Amino acid sequence: MLRCDLDPRTHLRLLGEADATELAALVRANRHHLAPWMPWVGEESPSATLAFIRGTRRQLAEENGFQTAIVHDGAIAGVVGFHGVDRVNRATSIGYWLAADRQGQGIMTRAVAALVGHALTAWKLHRVEIRVATGNARSRAIPERLGFRREGTLRGAERHGERFLDLDVFALLAPEWRGAP
Ligand SMILES: CC(C)(COP(=O)(O)OP(=O)(O)OC[C@H]1O[C@@H](n2cnc3c(N)ncnc32)[C@H](O)[C@@H]1OP(=O)(O)O)[C@@H](O)C(=O)NCCC(=O)NCCS
Repeated sequence: MLRCDLDPRTHLRLLGEADATELAALVRANRHHLAPWMPWVGEESPSATLAFIRGTRRQLAEENGFQTAIVHDGAIAGVVGFHGVDRVNRATSIGYWLAADRQGQGIMTRAVAALVGHALTAWKLHRVEIRVATGNARSRAIPERLGFRREGTLRGAERHGERFLDLDVFALLAPEWRGAP
């Protein structure tokens, strides 16, 4: 999957090293928006971002999923991707973030739907999981909109500095997929 059109103004494409400066600047500009929910925010220098992008290329080469840039009106608006692929259990999980000023248009719902479709059809996986910190209402609305079921809460499962956040687990199984809304 080199490029996936989500709507006339938005597409997904693989991240490349040339994106490091733009991506780091976007994270920096959205630091206060992202920091409550993304534990890695704070390391958004171009070199840290470059290391992240190189990691995504290794992930792709190892056929362990991929991360994509969400490009909206010609600029990176966020990132969505797979954390990895568990071939034994035919399962994967998805993570995402979007710039504050790109919210409220359904962009991430369409992006996650595209990745779910890819996981279930191209890779023929059985289970897709999304973990959302308890209280992250905008994020949990995405799996809920796409028909995921909430399975429970992992207590204190994500470390943010000195705090540990609870994570709500949402999952969708292949027979439950209704397609993109
Ligand atoms: C989580 C996050 C990606 C959600 O962004 P979002 O804009 O709410 O999600 P979408 O792009 O899917 O847009 C949904 C919104 O667009 C609206 N919308 C408009 N057209 C739509 C369409 N065609 N389809 C779906 N939703 C549509 C929805 O009603 C919803 O708005 P509402 O929340 O006011 O009801 C974003 O808030 C974010 O990045 N937060 C910080 C990082 C984070 O929490 N990441 C997730 C960690 S688990």
